[in-house]
Amino acid sequence: MITQVLPIDDLSLEMAKAEIMRGGVVAFPTETVYGLAANACDTAAVEKVFAVKGRPNDNPLIVHVHKDYDLSELVTDIPSYSHLLTKAFLPGPLTMVYKSKGTVSKAVSCGLDTVAIRIPSHEGAQRFLKYVNIPIAAPSANLSKHVSPVTALHVFDDLNGKIPLILDGGKCSGGIESTVLDCTGAVPCVLRSGLISREMIAQVVGECDEYVFKDGEKVRSPGMKYKHYSPKCETALFSFDDREKAFELYRTKSSEGLKVFLMCDDEVAKQSGCSDILNLGKTENEIAANLYDKLREGESVAELIIAVAPQKQDGVMVGVMNRLKKACG
Ligand code: TXA
Ligand code: MG
Repeated sequence: MITQVLPIDDLSLEMAKAEIMRGGVVAFPTETVYGLAANACDTAAVEKVFAVKGRPNDNPLIVHVHKDYDLSELVTDIPSYSHLLTKAFLPGPLTMVYKSKGTVSKAVSCGLDTVAIRIPSHEGAQRFLKYVNIPIAAPSANLSKHVSPVTALHVFDDLNGKIPLILDGGKCSGGIESTVLDCTGAVPCVLRSGLISREMIAQVVGECDEYVFKDGEKVRSPGMKYKHYSPKCETALFSFDDREKAFELYRTKSSEGLKVFLMCDDEVAKQSGCSDILNLGKTENEIAANLYDKLREGESVAELIIAVAPQKQDGVMVGVMNRLKKACG
Protein backbone atom coordinates (compact mmCIF):
# COMPACT_ATOMS: atom_id res chain seq x y z
CA MET A 1 0.00 0.00 0.00
CA ILE A 2 1.23 3.49 -0.84
CA THR A 3 0.86 5.99 2.02
CA GLN A 4 0.02 9.49 0.85
CA VAL A 5 0.73 12.55 3.01
CA LEU A 6 -1.56 15.41 1.98
CA PRO A 7 -2.40 18.89 3.30
CA ILE A 8 -5.97 19.26 4.52
CA ASP A 9 -8.21 20.52 1.70
CA ASP A 10 -11.47 19.51 0.01
CA LEU A 11 -9.77 16.82 -2.05
CA SER A 12 -7.90 15.12 0.83
CA LEU A 13 -10.97 15.37 3.07
CA GLU A 14 -13.06 13.67 0.39
CA MET A 15 -10.44 10.90 0.12
CA ALA A 16 -10.33 10.52 3.91
CA LYS A 17 -14.11 10.32 4.14
CA ALA A 18 -14.33 7.70 1.37
CA GLU A 19 -11.70 5.60 3.15
CA ILE A 20 -13.46 5.85 6.52
CA MET A 21 -16.86 5.03 5.00
CA ARG A 22 -15.50 1.89 3.37
CA GLY A 23 -14.14 0.69 6.72
CA GLY A 24 -10.55 1.87 6.32
CA VAL A 25 -8.26 3.90 8.57
CA VAL A 26 -6.51 7.26 8.01
CA ALA A 27 -4.30 9.45 10.20
CA PHE A 28 -5.31 12.99 11.16
CA PRO A 29 -3.81 15.78 13.30
CA THR A 30 -5.10 16.97 16.66
CA GLU A 31 -3.71 19.65 19.00
CA THR A 32 -2.13 16.90 21.18
CA VAL A 33 -0.76 14.12 18.92
CA TYR A 34 -1.78 12.60 15.57
CA GLY A 35 -4.65 10.10 15.68
CA LEU A 36 -5.40 6.94 13.68
CA ALA A 37 -9.06 7.24 12.70
CA ALA A 38 -11.77 4.65 12.05
CA ASN A 39 -15.57 4.65 12.06
CA ALA A 40 -16.39 4.02 15.74
CA CYS A 41 -19.61 2.22 14.82
CA ASP A 42 -17.91 -0.26 12.48
CA THR A 43 -16.41 -3.16 14.47
CA ALA A 44 -14.21 -4.42 11.61
CA ALA A 45 -12.79 -0.91 11.10
CA VAL A 46 -12.07 -0.54 14.82
CA GLU A 47 -10.34 -3.94 14.83
CA LYS A 48 -8.22 -2.72 11.92
CA VAL A 49 -6.94 0.14 14.12
CA PHE A 50 -5.78 -2.34 16.77
CA ALA A 51 -4.12 -4.50 14.09
CA VAL A 52 -2.30 -1.62 12.35
CA LYS A 53 -0.84 -0.39 15.65
CA GLY A 54 -0.20 -3.80 17.18
CA ARG A 55 -2.22 -2.58 20.14
CA PRO A 56 -3.27 -4.95 22.98
CA ASN A 57 -7.00 -5.62 22.69
CA ASP A 58 -7.81 -4.65 26.29
CA ASN A 59 -6.76 -1.00 25.85
CA PRO A 60 -9.86 1.03 24.86
CA LEU A 61 -9.94 3.80 22.24
CA ILE A 62 -11.13 7.39 22.51
CA VAL A 63 -14.10 8.48 20.36
CA HIS A 64 -13.63 11.85 18.63
CA VAL A 65 -16.48 14.10 17.49
CA HIS A 66 -16.78 17.66 16.14
CA LYS A 67 -17.85 20.47 18.43
CA ASP A 68 -21.51 20.53 17.37
CA TYR A 69 -22.06 16.78 17.66
CA ASP A 70 -24.98 15.72 19.86
CA LEU A 71 -23.31 13.69 22.63
CA SER A 72 -26.65 12.33 23.84
CA GLU A 73 -26.50 9.98 20.83
CA LEU A 74 -23.44 8.30 22.33
CA VAL A 75 -23.53 8.61 26.12
CA THR A 76 -25.86 8.95 29.04
CA ASP A 77 -25.77 10.18 32.67
CA ILE A 78 -23.71 13.30 31.95
CA PRO A 79 -23.15 14.96 35.38
CA SER A 80 -23.67 18.68 35.86
CA TYR A 81 -19.95 19.34 36.51
CA SER A 82 -19.30 18.10 32.96
CA HIS A 83 -21.20 21.05 31.53
CA LEU A 84 -18.94 23.45 33.41
CA LEU A 85 -15.83 21.63 32.18
CA THR A 86 -17.14 21.58 28.63
CA LYS A 87 -17.68 25.31 28.77
CA ALA A 88 -14.22 25.93 30.23
CA PHE A 89 -12.06 23.57 28.20
CA LEU A 90 -13.76 22.22 25.05
CA PRO A 91 -12.93 21.97 22.25
CA GLY A 92 -9.54 21.09 23.69
CA PRO A 93 -7.22 18.43 25.13
CA LEU A 94 -9.67 17.00 27.68
CA THR A 95 -11.22 13.55 27.13
CA MET A 96 -14.26 12.71 29.24
CA VAL A 97 -15.40 9.18 30.13
CA TYR A 98 -19.17 8.61 30.36
CA LYS A 99 -21.59 5.70 30.51
CA SER A 100 -21.99 4.37 26.96
CA LYS A 101 -25.34 4.13 25.22
CA GLY A 102 -23.98 1.30 23.08
CA THR A 103 -24.10 3.32 19.85
CA VAL A 104 -20.41 2.84 19.12
CA SER A 105 -18.95 -0.63 18.58
CA LYS A 106 -18.18 -2.66 21.71
CA ALA A 107 -14.66 -3.11 20.30
CA VAL A 108 -13.97 0.59 21.03
CA SER A 109 -14.28 0.23 24.79
CA CYS A 110 -12.89 -3.32 25.06
CA GLY A 111 -15.80 -4.56 27.13
CA LEU A 112 -16.14 -1.56 29.49
CA ASP A 113 -19.64 -0.06 29.79
CA THR A 114 -18.16 3.43 29.41
CA VAL A 115 -16.85 5.38 26.44
CA ALA A 116 -14.20 8.14 26.31
CA ILE A 117 -15.25 11.22 24.29
CA ARG A 118 -12.88 13.86 22.92
CA ILE A 119 -13.61 17.09 21.04
CA PRO A 120 -10.24 18.27 19.72
CA SER A 121 -9.57 21.97 19.10
CA HIS A 122 -7.17 21.57 16.15
CA GLU A 123 -8.75 23.27 13.15
CA GLY A 124 -7.82 20.41 10.80
CA ALA A 125 -9.27 17.87 13.23
CA GLN A 126 -12.54 19.81 13.43
CA ARG A 127 -12.71 20.02 9.62
CA PHE A 128 -12.13 16.28 9.27
CA LEU A 129 -14.67 15.38 12.00
CA LYS A 130 -17.28 17.74 10.53
CA TYR A 131 -16.67 16.34 7.05
CA VAL A 132 -17.23 12.71 8.07
CA ASN A 133 -19.87 13.68 10.66
CA ILE A 134 -19.69 10.32 12.45
CA PRO A 135 -17.98 9.34 15.71
CA ILE A 136 -14.33 8.51 15.03
CA ALA A 137 -12.40 6.05 17.18
CA ALA A 138 -8.76 7.09 17.26
CA PRO A 139 -5.72 6.16 19.32
CA SER A 140 -2.41 7.94 18.77
CA ALA A 141 -1.12 7.14 15.26
CA ASN A 142 2.10 5.39 16.31
CA LEU A 143 3.06 1.73 16.50
CA SER A 144 2.06 0.44 19.93
CA LYS A 145 4.76 1.15 22.59
CA HIS A 146 6.61 3.68 20.39
CA VAL A 147 6.71 7.44 21.03
CA SER A 148 3.45 9.18 20.01
CA PRO A 149 3.63 11.19 16.74
CA VAL A 150 3.44 14.99 16.70
CA THR A 151 4.13 15.49 12.96
CA ALA A 152 2.85 13.80 9.80
CA LEU A 153 6.41 12.57 9.21
CA HIS A 154 6.41 10.78 12.58
CA VAL A 155 3.22 8.97 11.52
CA PHE A 156 4.78 8.14 8.16
CA ASP A 157 7.90 6.70 9.87
CA ASP A 158 5.73 4.27 11.88
CA LEU A 159 2.87 3.46 9.49
CA ASN A 160 4.24 3.83 5.95
CA GLY A 161 2.74 1.08 3.80
CA LYS A 162 0.12 0.22 6.43
CA ILE A 163 -2.39 3.05 5.89
CA PRO A 164 -3.40 4.87 2.68
CA LEU A 165 -3.54 8.48 3.89
CA ILE A 166 -2.08 10.89 6.43
CA LEU A 167 -3.77 14.29 6.68
CA ASP A 168 -0.95 16.73 7.39
CA GLY A 169 -1.92 19.51 9.80
CA GLY A 170 1.60 20.59 10.81
CA LYS A 171 3.28 20.05 14.17
CA CYS A 172 0.88 19.47 17.08
CA SER A 173 0.99 22.43 19.45
CA GLY A 174 0.17 20.50 22.66
CA GLY A 175 2.59 17.63 22.31
CA ILE A 176 1.31 15.16 24.94
CA GLU A 177 -1.94 13.18 24.84
CA SER A 178 -5.16 14.61 26.23
CA THR A 179 -6.10 14.46 29.89
CA VAL A 180 -8.49 11.51 30.40
CA LEU A 181 -11.13 12.33 33.01
CA ASP A 182 -13.60 9.83 34.48
CA CYS A 183 -16.96 11.63 34.62
CA THR A 184 -19.03 8.68 35.89
CA GLY A 185 -18.69 9.54 39.59
CA ALA A 186 -19.85 12.33 41.89
CA VAL A 187 -16.38 13.89 41.65
CA PRO A 188 -14.38 13.86 38.39
CA CYS A 189 -11.21 11.77 38.47
CA VAL A 190 -8.09 12.16 36.30
CA LEU A 191 -7.18 8.77 34.79
CA ARG A 192 -4.36 10.12 32.58
CA SER A 193 -2.76 13.52 33.18
CA GLY A 194 -2.26 15.96 30.34
CA LEU A 195 -2.38 19.61 29.40
CA ILE A 196 -5.60 20.24 31.34
CA SER A 197 -4.21 19.64 34.82
CA ARG A 198 -6.05 18.37 37.89
CA GLU A 199 -5.60 21.84 39.41
CA MET A 200 -7.28 23.51 36.40
CA ILE A 201 -10.25 21.12 36.62
CA ALA A 202 -10.59 21.61 40.41
CA GLN A 203 -10.58 25.37 39.89
CA VAL A 204 -13.68 25.08 37.68
CA VAL A 205 -15.69 22.43 39.55
CA GLY A 206 -14.38 22.65 43.13
CA GLU A 207 -12.74 19.24 43.43
CA CYS A 208 -11.03 16.67 41.27
CA ASP A 209 -9.49 13.31 42.19
CA GLU A 210 -6.47 11.69 40.65
CA TYR A 211 -6.49 7.96 40.03
CA VAL A 212 -3.65 6.05 41.63
CA PHE A 213 -3.36 2.39 40.70
CA LYS A 214 -3.32 0.04 43.70
CA ASP A 215 -1.92 -3.51 43.45
CA GLY A 216 -4.62 -6.13 43.05
CA GLU A 217 -7.23 -3.61 41.87
CA LYS A 218 -8.91 -3.74 38.44
CA VAL A 219 -7.23 -0.91 36.52
CA ARG A 220 -9.63 1.89 35.52
CA SER A 221 -7.66 3.23 32.57
CA PRO A 222 -6.18 0.13 30.97
CA GLY A 223 -3.76 2.14 28.81
CA MET A 224 -1.84 3.29 31.85
CA LYS A 225 -0.53 -0.17 32.70
CA TYR A 226 1.44 -0.54 29.47
CA LYS A 227 5.00 0.52 28.80
CA HIS A 228 4.58 3.34 26.34
CA TYR A 229 6.29 6.11 24.53
CA SER A 230 9.67 4.37 24.27
CA PRO A 231 12.37 5.63 21.91
CA LYS A 232 14.42 3.01 20.06
CA CYS A 233 17.73 3.81 21.79
CA GLU A 234 18.97 3.33 25.37
CA THR A 235 17.73 5.89 27.89
CA ALA A 236 18.42 7.04 31.44
CA LEU A 237 16.38 9.41 33.59
CA PHE A 238 17.66 11.63 36.42
CA SER A 239 15.74 13.89 38.78
CA PHE A 240 16.42 17.62 38.70
CA ASP A 241 18.33 17.31 42.00
CA ASP A 242 20.56 14.60 40.52
CA ARG A 243 21.39 16.57 37.36
CA GLU A 244 25.13 16.68 38.17
CA LYS A 245 25.10 12.86 38.03
CA ALA A 246 23.46 13.06 34.61
CA PHE A 247 26.21 15.41 33.34
CA GLU A 248 28.83 13.03 34.78
CA LEU A 249 27.26 10.03 32.99
CA TYR A 250 27.16 12.05 29.76
CA ARG A 251 30.91 12.76 30.04
CA THR A 252 31.81 9.15 30.93
CA LYS A 253 29.75 7.59 28.14
CA SER A 254 30.88 10.17 25.58
CA SER A 255 34.53 9.49 26.41
CA GLU A 256 33.85 5.78 25.84
CA GLY A 257 32.84 6.70 22.29
CA LEU A 258 29.05 6.37 22.70
CA LYS A 259 26.81 8.86 20.86
CA VAL A 260 25.10 10.51 23.86
CA PHE A 261 22.49 13.29 23.99
CA LEU A 262 21.30 15.15 27.07
CA MET A 263 17.56 15.90 27.08
CA CYS A 264 16.57 18.70 29.46
CA ASP A 265 15.02 22.15 29.72
CA ASP A 266 16.81 25.29 28.59
CA GLU A 267 18.09 26.24 32.06
CA VAL A 268 19.67 22.83 32.74
CA ALA A 269 21.11 22.80 29.20
CA LYS A 270 23.03 26.00 30.00
CA GLN A 271 24.40 24.58 33.29
CA SER A 272 25.38 21.23 31.82
CA GLY A 273 28.46 21.98 29.74
CA CYS A 274 27.30 19.20 27.40
CA SER A 275 27.47 19.78 23.65
CA ASP A 276 24.84 17.37 22.29
CA ILE A 277 21.52 18.56 23.71
CA LEU A 278 17.86 17.85 23.04
CA ASN A 279 16.54 21.15 24.40
CA LEU A 280 12.93 20.97 25.59
CA GLY A 281 12.61 24.75 25.95
CA LYS A 282 11.74 27.13 28.79
CA THR A 283 8.06 27.12 29.78
CA GLU A 284 6.03 24.11 30.88
CA ASN A 285 3.91 24.26 27.71
CA GLU A 286 7.04 24.36 25.56
CA ILE A 287 8.44 21.35 27.40
CA ALA A 288 5.22 19.37 26.81
CA ALA A 289 5.08 20.43 23.15
CA ASN A 290 8.69 19.39 22.49
CA LEU A 291 8.89 16.15 24.49
CA TYR A 292 7.88 13.58 21.84
CA ASP A 293 9.48 15.55 19.02
CA LYS A 294 12.82 15.54 20.86
CA LEU A 295 12.51 11.85 21.82
CA ARG A 296 11.95 11.01 18.14
CA GLU A 297 14.82 13.28 17.06
CA GLY A 298 17.00 11.74 19.78
CA GLU A 299 16.40 8.12 18.83
CA SER A 300 17.46 8.87 15.25
CA VAL A 301 20.86 10.31 16.24
CA ALA A 302 21.71 8.97 19.73
CA GLU A 303 22.73 5.60 21.15
CA LEU A 304 21.89 6.90 24.63
CA ILE A 305 19.51 9.69 25.72
CA ILE A 306 20.14 10.97 29.25
CA ALA A 307 17.07 12.90 30.42
CA VAL A 308 16.93 15.34 33.33
CA ALA A 309 13.44 15.81 34.78
CA PRO A 310 12.06 19.33 35.11
CA GLN A 311 12.31 20.97 38.54
CA LYS A 312 8.60 21.80 38.66
CA GLN A 313 6.49 18.70 39.38
CA ASP A 314 2.89 19.99 39.47
CA GLY A 315 0.33 21.18 36.87
CA VAL A 316 1.18 20.18 33.29
CA MET A 317 4.47 18.72 34.54
CA VAL A 318 2.55 15.80 36.13
CA GLY A 319 1.66 14.67 32.60
CA VAL A 320 5.16 15.35 31.29
CA MET A 321 6.77 13.35 34.14
CA ASN A 322 4.36 10.47 33.57
CA ARG A 323 5.49 10.23 29.91
CA LEU A 324 9.18 10.82 30.73
CA LYS A 325 9.16 7.95 33.23
CA LYS A 326 7.51 5.63 30.72
CA ALA A 327 9.91 6.62 27.95
CA CYS A 328 13.18 6.83 29.87
CA GLY A 329 12.58 5.40 33.35
O1 TXA B 1 -4.75 13.24 22.84
C1 TXA B 1 -5.24 12.13 22.72
O2 TXA B 1 -6.02 11.65 23.59
C2 TXA B 1 -4.87 11.28 21.50
C3 TXA B 1 -5.43 11.98 20.26
C4 TXA B 1 -5.26 11.16 19.01
O3 TXA B 1 -6.77 12.33 20.46
N1 TXA B 1 -5.37 9.95 21.62
C5 TXA B 1 -4.82 9.05 22.47
O4 TXA B 1 -5.36 7.78 22.39
O5 TXA B 1 -3.92 9.30 23.23
P1 TXA B 1 -4.69 6.50 23.04
O6 TXA B 1 -5.43 5.36 22.49
O7 TXA B 1 -3.23 6.53 22.79
O8 TXA B 1 -5.02 6.59 24.56
C6 TXA B 1 -6.35 6.41 25.03
C7 TXA B 1 -6.37 6.41 26.54
C8 TXA B 1 -5.83 5.10 27.11
O9 TXA B 1 -5.05 5.38 28.26
C9 TXA B 1 -7.12 4.34 27.46
O10 TXA B 1 -6.92 3.41 28.49
C10 TXA B 1 -8.03 5.49 27.87
O11 TXA B 1 -7.72 6.54 26.98
N2 TXA B 1 -9.45 5.14 27.71
C11 TXA B 1 -10.16 5.01 26.56
N3 TXA B 1 -11.43 4.66 26.80
C12 TXA B 1 -11.56 4.57 28.14
C13 TXA B 1 -12.64 4.26 29.02
N4 TXA B 1 -13.83 3.95 28.57
N5 TXA B 1 -12.40 4.27 30.34
C14 TXA B 1 -11.16 4.58 30.83
N6 TXA B 1 -10.10 4.89 30.05
C15 TXA B 1 -10.29 4.89 28.72
MG1 MG C 1 -1.20 6.14 22.58
